[in-house]
Amino acid sequence: MTSSLPLFDLAGRTALVTGAGANGGIGHAIALGLARAGAQVAVADIDADGLAKTAAELAAIGQEPIAEICDIADASQVNALFSVIAARSCGLDILVNVPFVFPVRVRPHELEMADWEQMLAVNVTGYLRCCQAALRLMLTARRGAIINIGSNAGVSALGRGALPYSCTKAAVHQMTRELAVEYAGAGIRVNAILPAQTLTPGLSLHLDNPRFRDQVLPRILSGLPQGKLLQPQDYVGPTIFLASDAAIAVNGVLLPVDGGNLAMNAGGSANWL
Ligand SMILES: NC(=O)c1ccc[n+]([C@@H]2O[C@H](COP(=O)([O-])OP(=O)(O)OC[C@H]3O[C@@H](n4cnc5c(N)ncnc54)[C@H](O)[C@@H]3O)[C@@H](O)[C@H]2O)c1
Repeated sequence: MTSSLPLFDLAGRTALVTGAGANGGIGHAIALGLARAGAQVAVADIDADGLAKTAAELAAIGQEPIAEICDIADASQVNALFSVIAARSCGLDILVNVPFVFPVRVRPHELEMADWEQMLAVNVTGYLRCCQAALRLMLTARRGAIINIGSNAGVSALGRGALPYSCTKAAVHQMTRELAVEYAGAGIRVNAILPAQTLTPGLSLHLDNPRFRDQVLPRILSGLPQGKLLQPQDYVGPTIFLASDAAIAVNGVLLPVDGGNLAMNAGGSANWL
Protein backbone atom coordinates (compact mmCIF):
# COMPACT_ATOMS: atom_id res chain seq x y z
CA MET A 1 0.00 0.00 0.00
CA THR A 2 1.27 3.47 -0.81
CA SER A 3 0.41 6.82 0.71
CA SER A 4 -2.06 9.11 -1.08
CA LEU A 5 0.22 11.99 -0.04
CA PRO A 6 3.36 11.70 -2.24
CA LEU A 7 5.61 13.56 0.20
CA PHE A 8 4.90 10.93 2.85
CA ASP A 9 5.04 7.98 0.45
CA LEU A 10 7.69 5.41 1.40
CA ALA A 11 7.11 3.14 -1.61
CA GLY A 12 10.42 1.82 -2.91
CA ARG A 13 12.22 2.55 0.37
CA THR A 14 13.78 -0.12 2.53
CA ALA A 15 13.61 0.20 6.30
CA LEU A 16 15.04 -1.62 9.30
CA VAL A 17 13.39 -1.40 12.70
CA THR A 18 15.46 -2.78 15.58
CA GLY A 19 13.49 -3.71 18.71
CA ALA A 20 10.33 -4.52 16.75
CA GLY A 21 9.56 -7.79 18.53
CA ALA A 22 7.38 -6.67 21.44
CA ASN A 23 3.75 -7.08 20.43
CA GLY A 24 2.12 -3.89 21.66
CA GLY A 25 5.48 -2.10 21.88
CA ILE A 26 6.55 1.05 20.07
CA GLY A 27 8.92 -0.73 17.64
CA HIS A 28 6.22 -3.18 16.62
CA ALA A 29 3.78 -0.33 15.86
CA ILE A 30 6.44 1.58 13.91
CA ALA A 31 7.41 -1.47 11.80
CA LEU A 32 3.80 -2.07 10.76
CA GLY A 33 3.24 1.65 10.20
CA LEU A 34 6.25 2.03 7.91
CA ALA A 35 5.08 -1.00 5.93
CA ARG A 36 1.60 0.50 5.56
CA ALA A 37 3.25 3.71 4.29
CA GLY A 38 4.85 1.65 1.50
CA ALA A 39 8.32 0.78 2.81
CA GLN A 40 9.77 -2.72 2.60
CA VAL A 41 10.45 -3.38 6.27
CA ALA A 42 13.09 -5.57 7.91
CA VAL A 43 12.84 -6.22 11.63
CA ALA A 44 15.29 -7.33 14.30
CA ASP A 45 14.98 -8.13 17.98
CA ILE A 46 16.50 -10.27 20.69
CA ASP A 47 13.09 -11.92 21.30
CA ALA A 48 12.71 -14.71 18.72
CA ASP A 49 9.01 -15.42 19.41
CA GLY A 50 8.01 -11.78 19.35
CA LEU A 51 10.02 -11.21 16.20
CA ALA A 52 8.30 -14.13 14.46
CA LYS A 53 4.89 -12.64 15.33
CA THR A 54 5.85 -9.21 13.98
CA ALA A 55 7.19 -10.86 10.81
CA ALA A 56 3.92 -12.79 10.41
CA GLU A 57 1.93 -9.54 10.74
CA LEU A 58 4.14 -7.90 8.12
CA ALA A 59 3.65 -10.90 5.82
CA ALA A 60 -0.13 -10.59 6.32
CA ILE A 61 -0.01 -7.10 4.80
CA GLY A 62 1.96 -8.28 1.77
CA GLN A 63 5.56 -7.90 2.92
CA GLU A 64 8.38 -10.41 2.57
CA PRO A 65 10.22 -9.25 5.66
CA ILE A 66 13.76 -9.94 6.68
CA ALA A 67 13.42 -10.87 10.36
CA GLU A 68 16.71 -11.42 12.16
CA ILE A 69 17.36 -12.28 15.78
CA CYS A 70 19.94 -9.74 16.86
CA ASP A 71 21.28 -8.47 20.15
CA ILE A 72 22.39 -4.94 19.32
CA ALA A 73 24.89 -5.10 22.18
CA ASP A 74 26.78 -7.82 20.28
CA ALA A 75 29.00 -6.52 17.47
CA SER A 76 29.08 -9.82 15.57
CA GLN A 77 25.26 -10.10 15.61
CA VAL A 78 24.88 -6.54 14.32
CA ASN A 79 27.43 -7.25 11.57
CA ALA A 80 25.50 -10.39 10.63
CA LEU A 81 22.20 -8.46 10.58
CA PHE A 82 23.54 -5.78 8.26
CA SER A 83 25.20 -8.38 6.03
CA VAL A 84 21.77 -9.94 5.49
CA ILE A 85 20.24 -6.51 4.83
CA ALA A 86 22.99 -5.65 2.35
CA ALA A 87 22.70 -8.98 0.57
CA ARG A 88 18.90 -9.12 0.32
CA SER A 89 17.83 -5.45 0.00
CA CYS A 90 18.73 -2.73 -2.42
CA GLY A 91 20.57 -0.75 0.25
CA LEU A 92 18.92 0.76 3.29
CA ASP A 93 16.93 4.00 3.28
CA ILE A 94 15.55 4.08 6.81
CA LEU A 95 16.83 2.86 10.18
CA VAL A 96 14.69 3.13 13.32
CA ASN A 97 16.47 2.24 16.56
CA VAL A 98 14.00 1.27 19.31
CA PRO A 99 15.48 -1.26 21.82
CA PHE A 100 16.23 -0.46 25.41
CA VAL A 101 16.97 -2.24 28.66
CA PHE A 102 16.20 -0.95 32.13
CA PRO A 103 16.94 -4.01 34.30
CA VAL A 104 16.94 -2.44 37.75
CA ARG A 105 15.48 0.55 39.51
CA VAL A 106 17.64 1.40 42.49
CA ARG A 107 18.67 4.58 44.23
CA PRO A 108 21.78 5.94 42.44
CA HIS A 109 24.12 5.23 45.38
CA GLU A 110 23.14 1.54 45.21
CA LEU A 111 23.54 1.17 41.45
CA GLU A 112 25.78 -1.76 40.46
CA MET A 113 28.24 -0.86 37.71
CA ALA A 114 27.38 -4.09 35.87
CA ASP A 115 23.78 -2.82 35.47
CA TRP A 116 25.02 0.61 34.36
CA GLU A 117 27.29 -1.04 31.79
CA GLN A 118 24.50 -3.27 30.48
CA MET A 119 22.31 -0.23 29.90
CA LEU A 120 25.15 1.60 28.14
CA ALA A 121 25.89 -1.48 26.02
CA VAL A 122 22.35 -1.73 24.62
CA ASN A 123 20.88 1.77 24.90
CA VAL A 124 23.95 3.68 23.70
CA THR A 125 26.64 1.49 22.14
CA GLY A 126 24.03 -0.71 20.45
CA TYR A 127 22.38 2.34 18.88
CA LEU A 128 25.73 3.73 17.72
CA ARG A 129 26.75 0.37 16.27
CA CYS A 130 23.51 0.12 14.27
CA CYS A 131 23.85 3.75 13.14
CA GLN A 132 27.41 3.06 11.95
CA ALA A 133 26.37 -0.02 9.99
CA ALA A 134 23.40 1.80 8.46
CA LEU A 135 25.55 4.81 7.55
CA ARG A 136 27.97 2.60 5.65
CA LEU A 137 25.07 1.43 3.46
CA MET A 138 23.48 4.88 3.21
CA LEU A 139 26.74 6.60 2.25
CA THR A 140 26.88 4.50 -0.91
CA ALA A 141 23.47 5.79 -2.00
CA ARG A 142 24.05 9.24 -0.49
CA ARG A 143 20.60 9.28 1.04
CA GLY A 144 18.97 7.94 4.17
CA ALA A 145 17.01 8.71 7.30
CA ILE A 146 17.89 7.47 10.76
CA ILE A 147 15.42 7.81 13.60
CA ASN A 148 16.56 7.06 17.13
CA ILE A 149 14.02 6.61 19.89
CA GLY A 150 15.07 8.80 22.79
CA SER A 151 12.94 9.81 25.74
CA ASN A 152 11.71 12.79 27.70
CA ALA A 153 13.74 11.12 30.45
CA GLY A 154 16.85 12.26 28.56
CA VAL A 155 15.74 15.88 28.87
CA SER A 156 14.54 16.20 32.46
CA ALA A 157 14.86 13.94 35.49
CA LEU A 158 12.41 11.11 36.18
CA GLY A 159 13.57 10.10 39.66
CA ARG A 160 12.49 6.65 40.92
CA GLY A 161 15.79 4.96 40.09
CA ALA A 162 15.97 6.15 36.49
CA LEU A 163 19.46 7.68 36.54
CA PRO A 164 21.21 5.16 34.25
CA TYR A 165 18.26 4.96 31.84
CA SER A 166 17.98 8.75 31.66
CA CYS A 167 21.73 9.12 31.05
CA THR A 168 21.59 6.62 28.18
CA LYS A 169 18.70 8.49 26.58
CA ALA A 170 20.53 11.82 26.88
CA ALA A 171 23.47 10.14 25.12
CA VAL A 172 21.15 9.00 22.31
CA HIS A 173 19.97 12.59 21.90
CA GLN A 174 23.51 13.92 21.57
CA MET A 175 24.49 11.02 19.27
CA THR A 176 21.56 12.05 17.07
CA ARG A 177 22.71 15.67 16.86
CA GLU A 178 26.34 14.77 16.18
CA LEU A 179 25.46 12.28 13.44
CA ALA A 180 23.02 14.78 11.90
CA VAL A 181 25.77 17.35 11.56
CA GLU A 182 28.40 14.87 10.34
CA TYR A 183 26.29 13.38 7.53
CA ALA A 184 23.96 16.19 6.38
CA GLY A 185 26.26 16.83 3.42
CA ALA A 186 25.85 13.23 2.32
CA GLY A 187 22.07 13.48 2.16
CA ILE A 188 21.56 11.52 5.36
CA ARG A 189 19.26 12.90 8.06
CA VAL A 190 19.36 11.78 11.68
CA ASN A 191 16.54 12.68 14.06
CA ALA A 192 15.13 11.41 17.33
CA ILE A 193 11.62 10.89 18.63
CA LEU A 194 11.18 11.47 22.36
CA PRO A 195 8.26 9.50 23.78
CA ALA A 196 6.65 10.09 27.15
CA GLN A 197 4.93 7.41 29.23
CA THR A 198 3.24 5.01 26.87
CA LEU A 199 0.89 2.10 27.46
CA THR A 200 3.21 -0.72 26.34
CA PRO A 201 3.44 -4.28 27.69
CA GLY A 202 6.31 -3.17 29.95
CA LEU A 203 4.27 -0.43 31.58
CA SER A 204 1.12 -2.62 31.75
CA LEU A 205 3.02 -5.02 34.03
CA HIS A 206 3.35 -2.25 36.62
CA LEU A 207 -0.40 -1.57 36.64
CA ASP A 208 -0.86 -4.68 38.83
CA ASN A 209 1.41 -3.14 41.44
CA PRO A 210 -0.85 -1.13 43.82
CA ARG A 211 1.97 1.26 44.74
CA PHE A 212 2.60 2.09 41.08
CA ARG A 213 -1.12 2.31 40.26
CA ASP A 214 -2.12 4.43 43.25
CA GLN A 215 0.96 6.59 43.82
CA VAL A 216 3.15 6.74 40.69
CA LEU A 217 0.54 6.59 37.91
CA PRO A 218 -1.50 9.61 39.13
CA ARG A 219 1.69 11.69 39.17
CA ILE A 220 2.57 10.51 35.64
CA LEU A 221 -0.92 11.39 34.42
CA SER A 222 -0.78 14.81 36.08
CA GLY A 223 2.25 15.59 33.86
CA LEU A 224 0.41 14.64 30.67
CA PRO A 225 -1.84 17.53 29.62
CA GLN A 226 -4.10 15.22 27.64
CA GLY A 227 -4.70 13.27 30.87
CA LYS A 228 -3.91 9.84 29.51
CA LEU A 229 -0.95 7.64 28.64
CA LEU A 230 0.32 7.67 25.08
CA GLN A 231 -0.22 4.67 22.80
CA PRO A 232 2.46 2.94 20.63
CA GLN A 233 0.44 3.96 17.57
CA ASP A 234 1.04 7.62 18.44
CA TYR A 235 4.64 7.31 17.19
CA VAL A 236 3.79 5.97 13.75
CA GLY A 237 2.86 9.25 12.03
CA PRO A 238 5.91 11.13 13.36
CA THR A 239 8.20 8.28 12.26
CA ILE A 240 6.72 8.21 8.76
CA PHE A 241 7.14 11.99 8.60
CA LEU A 242 10.81 11.89 9.68
CA ALA A 243 11.54 8.97 7.32
CA SER A 244 9.89 10.62 4.33
CA ASP A 245 10.65 13.42 1.87
CA ALA A 246 8.16 15.56 3.80
CA ALA A 247 10.99 16.01 6.33
CA ILE A 248 13.73 16.60 3.76
CA ALA A 249 15.04 19.64 5.67
CA VAL A 250 14.43 18.23 9.14
CA ASN A 251 17.75 17.12 10.57
CA GLY A 252 19.17 16.82 14.09
CA VAL A 253 15.79 17.35 15.68
CA LEU A 254 14.74 15.87 19.02
CA LEU A 255 10.98 15.64 18.48
CA PRO A 256 8.91 15.20 21.62
CA VAL A 257 5.87 13.05 20.87
CA ASP A 258 4.45 13.36 24.31
CA GLY A 259 1.04 14.95 24.29
CA GLY A 260 2.52 18.17 25.71
CA ASN A 261 4.46 16.61 28.60
CA LEU A 262 7.62 18.66 27.99
CA ALA A 263 5.67 21.79 27.16
CA MET A 264 3.92 21.89 30.52
CA ASN A 265 5.52 23.70 33.42
CA ALA A 266 6.01 21.49 36.49
CA GLY A 267 3.37 23.58 38.26
CA GLY A 268 1.06 23.59 35.27
CA SER A 269 -2.30 21.90 35.05
CA ALA A 270 -4.48 21.15 32.07
CA ASN A 271 -8.14 22.13 31.84
CA TRP A 272 -8.20 23.76 35.26
CA LEU A 273 -10.60 26.58 34.48
N1 LIG B 1 7.08 2.88 26.92
C1 LIG B 1 7.32 4.09 27.39
O1 LIG B 1 6.59 4.62 28.24
C2 LIG B 1 8.49 4.87 26.86
C3 LIG B 1 8.68 6.19 27.29
C4 LIG B 1 9.78 6.90 26.82
C5 LIG B 1 10.65 6.29 25.92
N2 LIG B 1 10.45 5.01 25.52
C6 LIG B 1 11.41 4.41 24.60
O2 LIG B 1 10.70 3.83 23.53
C7 LIG B 1 11.39 2.66 23.06
C8 LIG B 1 10.44 1.48 23.02
O3 LIG B 1 9.88 1.29 24.29
P1 LIG B 1 8.77 0.20 24.53
O4 LIG B 1 8.21 0.47 25.87
O5 LIG B 1 7.87 0.07 23.34
O6 LIG B 1 9.67 -1.11 24.64
P2 LIG B 1 9.33 -2.65 24.47
O7 LIG B 1 9.88 -3.36 25.62
O8 LIG B 1 7.93 -2.84 24.22
O9 LIG B 1 10.20 -2.99 23.20
C9 LIG B 1 11.60 -2.96 23.21
C10 LIG B 1 12.08 -4.10 22.35
O10 LIG B 1 13.52 -4.07 22.37
C11 LIG B 1 13.94 -5.42 22.39
N3 LIG B 1 15.31 -5.48 22.90
C12 LIG B 1 15.75 -5.35 24.18
N4 LIG B 1 17.07 -5.50 24.25
C13 LIG B 1 17.50 -5.72 22.98
C14 LIG B 1 18.77 -5.93 22.41
N5 LIG B 1 19.87 -5.98 23.16
N6 LIG B 1 18.85 -6.11 21.06
C15 LIG B 1 17.73 -6.09 20.31
N7 LIG B 1 16.49 -5.89 20.80
C16 LIG B 1 16.38 -5.71 22.12
C17 LIG B 1 12.95 -6.12 23.29
O11 LIG B 1 12.96 -7.53 23.10
C18 LIG B 1 11.65 -5.47 22.84
O12 LIG B 1 11.05 -6.17 21.78
C19 LIG B 1 12.59 2.49 24.00
O13 LIG B 1 13.74 3.02 23.38
C20 LIG B 1 12.20 3.27 25.22
O14 LIG B 1 13.33 3.77 25.92
C21 LIG B 1 9.40 4.28 25.98
